[in-house]
Amino acid sequence: MAYDISRRFLLAGATGIGVAGATACASGASAIAETTEAAFPPEKVAVENPYLLGPPEGVALLSRNENPYGPAPSALKMIEYAGSKGAYYASQVAVKQLLEMIAEKNGVAPEQIALTTGSGEALSAIAMIYGPNGPIVAPRLFWDTTALYAARLGMATIDRVPLTEGMEIDLPAIEAKVTEGTGLVQLCNPNNPTGLVSDPATLKAAVKRMAAKTTVLVDEAYMELADDPAGNTCIPLINEGHNVIVSRTFSKIYGMAGIRMGYTISSPETAQKIQATAMSWSPCTSYAAAIGCYNDEKFLNFSKGKVVEARQMITTTLDTLGLEYLPSQTNFVYFKSGKPANDVQKAFAEKKISIRGQYMDYVDWSRVSTGKIEDVERFCKALPEIVGA
Ligand SMILES: Cc1ncc(COP(=O)(O)O)c(C=O)c1O
Repeated sequence: MAYDISRRFLLAGATGIGVAGATACASGASAIAETTEAAFPPEKVAVENPYLLGPPEGVALLSRNENPYGPAPSALKMIEYAGSKGAYYASQVAVKQLLEMIAEKNGVAPEQIALTTGSGEALSAIAMIYGPNGPIVAPRLFWDTTALYAARLGMATIDRVPLTEGMEIDLPAIEAKVTEGTGLVQLCNPNNPTGLVSDPATLKAAVKRMAAKTTVLVDEAYMELADDPAGNTCIPLINEGHNVIVSRTFSKIYGMAGIRMGYTISSPETAQKIQATAMSWSPCTSYAAAIGCYNDEKFLNFSKGKVVEARQMITTTLDTLGLEYLPSQTNFVYFKSGKPANDVQKAFAEKKISIRGQYMDYVDWSRVSTGKIEDVERFCKALPEIVGA
């Protein structure tokens, strides 16, 4: 259920004040707002460019894995409220509230969670904490932005392990590399840009064995979009005592990439280290929005439905054209167009459709994300001409 600010946040005693006190505060606040407004009438600020934020006019944005149907109305309502409190640093009451909500949903204690400004901040912190202890062992192709961040600072090296022939994460090959001298194992499940989920039994067994030697990070940014998140997540391994960190984000299924909120789940000691290494304080709007939509099952189901619909449109088109693709469980599809990915990207750009260019030396593989249905329709219509099928 969506978080109802009027009923629960203001009145349920989350702040320790009772119903009567909270009501008095709320009506007091509105009286102050009226006085302030009378003294300082708000100027009408026109947003001259309606595309100041978000994609430019007419552009089908399918190059980034955002959820264009977000943020949820339940998040927007809280953002509006948070904006009115923007003079203040985020309240510890809100931090505690969000920690408790995440803890409850995942069967962990609030102390096991670190909250950061998007999961990217936590992942960068993790790379900086563990990178100096030894190489970060990772698949050759994964979301490497944060490991590279630490590498650029001279705080990490990345030991990339080739994918299998089927472009899956090669767990036995990764495991063979891991020793007590390994700084960190970093996995991404489902992986980006392949969209593939690792077989859960094989993954969990390998993670347990590797975690006996070093810390294992599993980036689950897209896990809510997988067919069976509960069966695939590595979160249960944490409470079994394994040295595992799982990261999650509000940027994907929650549609809050521009609002910024992410988290990790680990042992309390590790969570403390990550929180202490994070470099910023998240805005009050981020906490509020996350509280608003974290349990908004209606919005989450709607978003997942749109992703599945768009993904089917893409794969049906690829099937019709006889093009190879990987069976994605995310909001993007990695497909083999048979043409240089950068040329394909350019040809789509001429039609105001934005998709990803080449990754590493995977020359003729392209990644397209599932944006708005009408934008995916444009992609599907343009694809035959662009790949010359
Ligand atoms: C696999 C993966 N992890 C983490 C992130 C970081 O997202 P954010 O910092 O917005 O949570 C991304 C962003 O694209 C991603 O693809």
